[in-house]
This record gives sequence, C-alpha cells and structure tokens, in this order.
Amino acid sequence: MSIPIYLDSHATTFVEPRVLEEMLPYFGEQSGNPSSPEHYHGAAARAAVDRARQTIADCLGCIEARDILFTAGATEANNLALIGSWRASSGQKQHFITTAIEHPSVLATLDYLAAQGAQVTRVGVDAWGRVNPDALRQALRPDTFMVSVMAANNEIGTLQPLAEIGQLCREAGVLFHCDAAQAVGHEALEVEALQVDFLSFSAHKFYGPKGVGALYRRGTEPTIPLQPILFGGGQEMGLRSGTLNVPGIVGMAAALRIARDEMEQENRRLDKLAAAIFARLQQAFPAIRRNGSPQHRLARNLSLTLPGVEAAALIQLLKDRVSFSAGSACATAKPEPSHVLKAIGLSDEECYQTIRLGLGRAVQDAGVAEMLCAGIAAAPVFLD
Ligand SMILES: Cc1ncc(COP(=O)(O)O)c(C=O)c1O
Repeated sequence: MSIPIYLDSHATTFVEPRVLEEMLPYFGEQSGNPSSPEHYHGAAARAAVDRARQTIADCLGCIEARDILFTAGATEANNLALIGSWRASSGQKQHFITTAIEHPSVLATLDYLAAQGAQVTRVGVDAWGRVNPDALRQALRPDTFMVSVMAANNEIGTLQPLAEIGQLCREAGVLFHCDAAQAVGHEALEVEALQVDFLSFSAHKFYGPKGVGALYRRGTEPTIPLQPILFGGGQEMGLRSGTLNVPGIVGMAAALRIARDEMEQENRRLDKLAAAIFARLQQAFPAIRRNGSPQHRLARNLSLTLPGVEAAALIQLLKDRVSFSAGSACATAKPEPSHVLKAIGLSDEECYQTIRLGLGRAVQDAGVAEMLCAGIAAAPVFLD
C-alpha cells in the first residue's frame, strides 16, 4: 500500500528535512544540558538555545529575546499564561473573557480557573467564526483581568481581528492572551503591532518537531507578572522548570525562520490550491458548503459540510488513500458535535457531515480532489 496523502495539517505537520538537519547535532555530539554551561557540551547547548530564542523573538517582533519562554507546546503555554498570570496578580480582578470557539487547552483551563473563583464570559462569534470586537468591548467589566482570543481557529481556519482586540485591551487596561498555535509560521504575527501580552504556539504546527512550543510573555513596557505552574530546577528564569528540549528548540527556531521566509509564496499557493479543490468538489456535489470566513482565513484550511454524507464513514472509506479529519472532536468513542461548528450555527447533523482538510507542503496539486469526489460518490453513507 502506498502512503496516503496527508491532509491533516491542522492536527500536525511533518518535520521538514531542513529542520531535521539542524536538529541532528543536538541529539548527538552537542547534546549537553544548557543548565550546565561550565563545560563544552553544556555551553554548546546553551549557545544553541540562546540563538534559537533570538531567532524566534526576531520572527515575532519581540523587544527582548527573554520574552520567549520555552514549553512543551501550546497547551502548556496556554495553561501557563492563564493560570500563571492570574496567580501572579493581586487577585482583585476575577473576570476572564474568551470566545466560544477556543481550543480545549484554553476552555478547560478557564473551567479550572472558574472552579478556583474566576468568572468567565464566553463571547459568541458570527456565522464565519469571527468575534466582533464590539461584543468583547461590551463584555468588559471593571474587574476584567484578561481577554483570551485565538489567532486562527483549528477547525474552520478563521482569523480573528487581533490588532483591534489588542488595541481595545490596551485601552481598557486588560491583559490580552492569544493562542496562536494555528497561526504562528503561517501568518505574519508581530507581538508589538498586535499589542498582545501573551502568545502561545507549538512547533509541530509549522513543520517543527512535536513536544516543544513557547509562550511569549511581554517582559518590558510594561512587564507582565507571571508565576510558574511547574516547579523544580528554576529553568527559564524560574518560570518553567525542567531540562530544556534542546533539539526541539533548535528545530522550532529553524522551522519558524523557514516558514517566515517562505510564508507569502506558500500562502498564495495554498490559497489557489484550496480554491481549486473546492471548485472541483462543488462541481460534483453542488450542495457542498465551505465553512469559515471567506476573507479572513488560513490559506491551508478547507472545512467542508457535505449534506447527506457522514464524515466519519467517509474518513474510513478513504483512509487508505487520504488522511483527514472530521469536523467533530473525536477524543471519545461517541464524538460530540464540534463546539466550533455549533457556534457558527451548524446543527448536530451538519456537524457530523463536516470534514476538515488541512493542506500543506506535501500537497502539490488538486489531484486529491478526484479521490475525494470518488470517495463521496462511492460512500454508502448518503443519508438521503
Ligand atoms: C488552536 C490550538 N491551540 C492549542 C493547541 C494545542 O497544541 P499542542 O497539542 O501542541 O499543545 C492546538 C493543537 O491542536 C490548537 O490547534
């Protein structure tokens, strides 16, 4: 069997060969512990981490490299931003504002904080999945501590108006956290221009390795207080204990540098490819609908509702040829309809008839659309 075509780049991406090449020495002769800089191996590892931190800070327009804190990924970065900043605060402000379509690593963390006494407002989104900054403004209260809004949605690809949100948070004196796991490496994000205080991301979403990510924390003008949520050796300025994942960090920096350099061209290509795949599918199945914002979207996203076709059955039918996801969260045996799709107005039934295609560097032409068309036509899953 040949390897199926990979169309699940929102879930993860493969390590780019150029990235792997830069990582390899740090699994071998350079694999010292950066916390032991007194000898050759430790110093080499420390220098590599310092270089990587600088590269990442430069790519995101940070004032200081030390504003980047390395974590095990966006989940941990989201937990650290939300829990750590609240713990570091005076406790006077209890209120968090977020949106109905955030990733579970934000929503579940806010549920945890709510159990500790925080109050959380989840603001809805429009039919395209965009949050209206006016709705956020109206949700602000004198005791609002933080607004947490994702940069790009992991199911429908919609981009949020981050600059406007950053501006309104700054004016209101409220912290702004952004889960940018789907956008870093794919969209040009500058922390200063966005006036963001915290920004979370994971390397494996932009062709870096899994298990490594970072939290940007504004360290100057003004410094945002933060307390650790992991305790131990005091790495990362005491804010994230644990031996640093040096090959992962080196790989993340390489992946981000390459992504930044190639972003414009790649996004133009993906945009055209997504449009071509959609046009072909629409020709065969006129009832198909594309979810998410037509203008403000990740170029690689195709969230498609196929009336009458059960997504889970289609995935099974095509799994030897194409790897893609359903639009529902499938963590449990009985998948719940996606909270994102429901928030943009889809019925439960439509949620189960929605697939998510994530295009990427491995997909060079729209030929995959033929496979999808054949799969949909052959699917013994037409409900009527
Ligand atoms: C929007 C968003 N936030 C956070 C995460 C969590 O990333 P990780 O699993 O790498 O910690 C993901 C991963 O799917 C995501 O899409």
